[in-house]
Amino acid sequence: MKPVYFEEGKLRLIDQTKLPTEFIVYSYTDYREIAKAIVDMIVRGAPAIGVTAGYGVYFGALEYQNEPKDVFYVKMKEVCELLASTRPTAVNLFWAIKRMEDVMAANADKEPAELVAILKQEADAICAEDIQMCRDMGKHGAELIHEGDTLLTHCNAGALATADYGTALGVIRAAHEAGKNISVYADETRPFLQGARLTAYELQTDGIPVTLITDNMAGWMMKLGKIDGVIVGADRIAANGDVANKIGTYSVSVLAKAHGIPMYVAAPTSTIDFEMQSGDEIVIEQRDCREISHIGGVQVAPDGVNMENPAFDVTPHQNVTAIITEKGVVYPPYDLNIPKLKE
Ligand code: MRU
Repeated sequence: MKPVYFEEGKLRLIDQTKLPTEFIVYSYTDYREIAKAIVDMIVRGAPAIGVTAGYGVYFGALEYQNEPKDVFYVKMKEVCELLASTRPTAVNLFWAIKRMEDVMAANADKEPAELVAILKQEADAICAEDIQMCRDMGKHGAELIHEGDTLLTHCNAGALATADYGTALGVIRAAHEAGKNISVYADETRPFLQGARLTAYELQTDGIPVTLITDNMAGWMMKLGKIDGVIVGADRIAANGDVANKIGTYSVSVLAKAHGIPMYVAAPTSTIDFEMQSGDEIVIEQRDCREISHIGGVQVAPDGVNMENPAFDVTPHQNVTAIITEKGVVYPPYDLNIPKLKE
């Protein structure tokens, strides 16, 4: 289930706003439309938007390749700025754009038309590496999952949030593929319902036993002893191990701690912001409150009521049992062990 891929000269994106009732794939060649697809959450999930932005930069270069070199670089700056302005929290977006910018800088002696092919290769590499990182994370993380475990997950950190396979769901997938008899509780994840619409769909499609619950049921399921571990993805991890992820992750982490349940975060090193010292510095995206006042286009709140819609929260590192990366599993103290991943 690849949500983002390049085919026949076009970027293809599965429309994740329509899943699971409609499966629609759109084609893109215009970087402005690609930026809009990120804003509109046609494509979402930290690694997937990074991959998408990489191709966005490539399409920008393709459009401006016949401009004089100085104009080309001015235009490419605008392309990168537009793509970077789409969503503020997931660091993978900025990481991927920076990789594309670094390639341009390293090849500044080349003509724009030559650069286009090099940028395409880099975008392809970002995409391919993401899949490999997910598979490696799966292998490392599966060792933490025991036969018979029931895991709770929040939001969608699956194939649909990456180039393929997934981070948190990649670990679950790898444990399932290894023959472990496991099952999953998926939080519906208000207000955008990534858990109900995407995680439930993905796991069901793969034949992994999944039970959908509303977000406010998680604590009670823990109290009843029905949950052995929590596993989620991340949008940005600070150098001290604080984790920004979908709104509601913080509450789940507090509940897990109160019940003595391990809380695992699965994320590639492209999600680690090594320069950011703590989660306090992470910019939290505020989204349109219509996501709260309306469900499936139907109004559920009174006209004019005050609302707030932070799309992410930050789980303090003290609540995180371990971080699963493609390079291995990292344990506290994170401020000492996370920087080692950079080596
Ligand atoms: O707003 P979204 O759907 O882009 O948020 C996605 C999440 O919070 C995921 O948990 C995170 O990006 C990890 S995905 C591998």
